[in-house]
Amino acid sequence: MSRATSADSVADASRRVEKVYGVLARVYDGFFDWALGPGRRYAVSRLTPQAGERVLEVGVGTGLTLPLYPHGCEVVGIDISEPMLERARTRLEGLDGASVLLKRMDARAIAYGDGHFDKVLAPYVISVVPNPESVMVEMARVCRPGGTVIVVNHFQTGFAPMAAVERLLTPLSTWVGFRMDLPLTAVTGTPGLTLVRQERVNMLGMWRLLEFRRT
Ligand SMILES: C[S@@+](CC[C@H](N)C(=O)[O-])C[C@H]1O[C@@H](n2cnc3c(N)ncnc32)[C@H](O)[C@@H]1O
Repeated sequence: MSRATSADSVADASRRVEKVYGVLARVYDGFFDWALGPGRRYAVSRLTPQAGERVLEVGVGTGLTLPLYPHGCEVVGIDISEPMLERARTRLEGLDGASVLLKRMDARAIAYGDGHFDKVLAPYVISVVPNPESVMVEMARVCRPGGTVIVVNHFQTGFAPMAAVERLLTPLSTWVGFRMDLPLTAVTGTPGLTLVRQERVNMLGMWRLLEFRRT
């Protein structure tokens, strides 16, 4: 594939993601609040955000994690979808004293300097972006050395019957904006990030929490 064609297909995929989440914003919480809630709660508990720390949440969506951060913790939530962010802003209005900044931003080009954040969380976003490797590189870049990066996502399973189901569902899931068959290696080879913990979360352990230390 030529470079122009590959760049075009990434741009097309990004536009599709934005379009899909523009529509999904209205119904997102109804489906994904409870279903993916345990993974979200566990991820924030592993992140152990402290007062005075800077936390970046990538793909903050409708802000379902926002009530989980303690007061005094400076949270920046970025998302590419304005309608999803609108929902997050509404949620934030109900959270007195929370220090949260919500910004429309592409996770593939995070507009913060190197090492700006103490901790970075990316819940259920890495299989939604067309080029997850570049998002991982950006998350590593903006996390300070010694900081924590946590990714929660569904990854391709090694279990043959399940892998067949994933392959079957992939065209449909890609159409609605995420991949069922993302290999774990898409995130584990990021320079500057060492995987220190891996656990299964949510229903049937079908999602994984990956905790990295920024070296
Ligand atoms: C499955 S939702 C997850 C939302 C939220 N993290 C949660 O736990 O419910 C994926 C989110 O990633 C956002 N997203 C997709 N591509 C993005 C990108 N390139 N940069 C920033 N956000 C992106 C979507 O707009 C959507 O809000």
